[in-house]
Amino acid sequence: MDKVVVGLGERAYEISIGSGQLEALGGELARRAYGKRYVLVADDRVAELYGARVLDGFARAGLPPLSVTFPHGEASKNLSTVENLARELARLGVDRGDALVALGGGVTGDICGFLAAIYMRGIPFVQVPTTLLAQVDSSVGGKTGVDIPEGKNLVGCFYQPRWVVIDLKVLNSLDDTEMKNGFAEIIKYGVIRDGEFFALLEREREAVLGRKHEVLSTVIQRCCAIKAEVVAADEREGDQRRILNFGHTIGHAVEAASRFAIAHGHAVAMGMVAAAELAVLEGLLPKEEAARIRDLVEGYGLPVTIPPGLDRQEIKGFLRTDKKAVAGRPFFVLPTSIGKVVITDQVEERFIDQVLG
Ligand SMILES: NC(=O)c1ccc[n+]([C@@H]2O[C@H](COP(=O)([O-])OP(=O)(O)OC[C@H]3O[C@@H](n4cnc5c(N)ncnc54)[C@H](O)[C@@H]3O)[C@@H](O)[C@H]2O)c1
Ligand SMILES: [Zn+2]
Repeated sequence: MDKVVVGLGERAYEISIGSGQLEALGGELARRAYGKRYVLVADDRVAELYGARVLDGFARAGLPPLSVTFPHGEASKNLSTVENLARELARLGVDRGDALVALGGGVTGDICGFLAAIYMRGIPFVQVPTTLLAQVDSSVGGKTGVDIPEGKNLVGCFYQPRWVVIDLKVLNSLDDTEMKNGFAEIIKYGVIRDGEFFALLEREREAVLGRKHEVLSTVIQRCCAIKAEVVAADEREGDQRRILNFGHTIGHAVEAASRFAIAHGHAVAMGMVAAAELAVLEGLLPKEEAARIRDLVEGYGLPVTIPPGLDRQEIKGFLRTDKKAVAGRPFFVLPTSIGKVVITDQVEERFIDQVLG
């Protein structure tokens, strides 16, 4: 089993990456004793696929097999789900000595993390991410929260898990679209921080797409290490953490303009290619490097152009009102080479028009 540490002082935690740890999770949780008892939190789909496996392990370890579930999908990521789950916990008699286990994708991690942060003013929680996106991105870093009708992720807080457990085996049941959402974030890490990792993604494409555990394990580990490094240096998104938004400025605008019909990873893929082109126009990045980014994105089955049917003015409107824009000026994370980026809000509007196409 491989290990990555998120170095946050007294709140530091470990990410364990391996294959087949779900069965042994109960025993390990009992040993680690984050709580007297644990409550498994999962959406209905993941509960059906993996709930029994984890709860049997709880029982074998002498832990009561407690669990709560909610309907799968982003539509559940709201305050009423949090309220329902909190009420269930209260009815189960869960108290400050107990802990939660988020088993699922980013939706479950975000809901469960937020619930753990506010239930009885905070109880410990563990992340067991089951989508590729959650394994390389959302389970690490402590951002938790839910959506409101006015916008995604507008209510939430920073709350770090005590431990992150990544089991590669669970990826076997994930469909290709969900895998691709993860690939977009994986490519992102190569561009923002690690040219050699980017080259590995080029070289090992077939093996990664074929879900070969050995290479997936290397890939996931590297992504977690990069995210851990960035988060440890800047937990609450001062400046450095913003590099994680590479591809997300235009990506979020495209997602919003499509009324979320375009999946996050697909929108980020388009956003990364557009940002690389923007960097070329600004004279920051050699053309050939932008071509490599585009080729890799395409090679992982992700889209590289923004659909012509999306209204460009609307996309630009969303860019101006982006959560992270200051005074209507969006900021961009632009590569200067593969493995290095700069953050800037000094981008010429005509260049933005040009890359939106
Ligand atoms: N907190 C953060 O830092 C952060 C970062 C990125 C994204 N996010 C959030 O993550 C969410 C997206 O996460 P997601 O893409 O994992 O979505 P998700 O949690 O909805 O999972 C996608 C679907 O896959 C199913 N599923 C999960 N694991 C499975 C498995 N092993 N086999 C088969 N099916 C499985 C789920 O039931 C769900 O239907 C968004 O809400 C986004 O805002 C948070
Ligand atoms: Zn993302």
